[in-house]
Amino acid sequence: MGMVEGKVCLVTGGASNPGLGHAIAHKLASEGAIVIVTDVDGEGAALTAAEIVAAGGRAQAWEQDVTDEAAWDATIERIGSEHGRLDVLVNNAGIAILKPLPELTLADFNRQMLVNMTSVFLGTQKAVAIMRETGAKGSIVNMSSVAALVGVPACSAYSAAKAGVLGFTKTIAGETAADGIRCNTIHPGLIDTNMQRQSKVDNPDEDVKLNSAIPLGYVGRPQSIADAALFLASDLSSYMTGAQLVVDGGLINQ
Ligand SMILES: NC(=O)c1ccc[n+]([C@@H]2O[C@H](COP(=O)([O-])OP(=O)(O)OC[C@H]3O[C@@H](n4cnc5c(N)ncnc54)[C@H](O)[C@@H]3O)[C@@H](O)[C@H]2O)c1
Repeated sequence: MGMVEGKVCLVTGGASNPGLGHAIAHKLASEGAIVIVTDVDGEGAALTAAEIVAAGGRAQAWEQDVTDEAAWDATIERIGSEHGRLDVLVNNAGIAILKPLPELTLADFNRQMLVNMTSVFLGTQKAVAIMRETGAKGSIVNMSSVAALVGVPACSAYSAAKAGVLGFTKTIAGETAADGIRCNTIHPGLIDTNMQRQSKVDNPDEDVKLNSAIPLGYVGRPQSIADAALFLASDLSSYMTGAQLVVDGGLINQ
């Protein structure tokens, strides 16, 4: 029996490969979950679900823009009508607008907050509602970053959004604990995904500096974040809520 056997799990931003949502969706499915993969890239999400099904897992996918409240309503409603409940939400979808302060426009800042933080508010609110309605002792896993915990050059807007996710999650953990609903954050360091590969191109000097500062000596693999998400999704973490799980090869432990 898998660690999340039969749990209905929604993973946002699951199209990108290599990507964290993609790895998390695969991991949860391999441990028995029924996984719903969504992404603004609907075709990519469908591909992830098809890979899972081909490997013997249970998955379905559709397009969802996490900044769109109506799309959240439609997603949660569909999960409710097709599966009767939602056990786990992984708010993973995100973008990285990395610019030094003078170059950062208001439009950049607002977009960064909308995709990485407002989306987490929307998803969490809708997930908590269905979990309460159905009595599910659910787990909400919000993807933050080490950038929420330490300063990283060119990351001001990104850090603000990820620190917002952290504070938001801690407060919601307190509000939902009496329902048995848990909310925790994951704080990845440098993980080899399409996002990280792009930031290497945009900020090559910073990338070299950060890479050489990882005490464990290598850039992380999406699998390590998927393992952390599985732990927080599963009953192994049943006594954890409002916690921040740093998975960074020791990057900020100095
Ligand atoms: N890779 C890292 O080193 C790292 C470190 C810390 C935190 N993170 C966070 O982890 C999460 C996943 O990052 P990743 O590295 O896999 O990135 P990625 O770019 O590889 O994948 C992100 C996915 O989110 C989707 N997405 C973007 N905007 C969306 C929207 N509006 N609606 C729905 N989907 C949308 C993209 O289409 C893509 O499939 C992000 O929240 C990111 O900020 C990543």
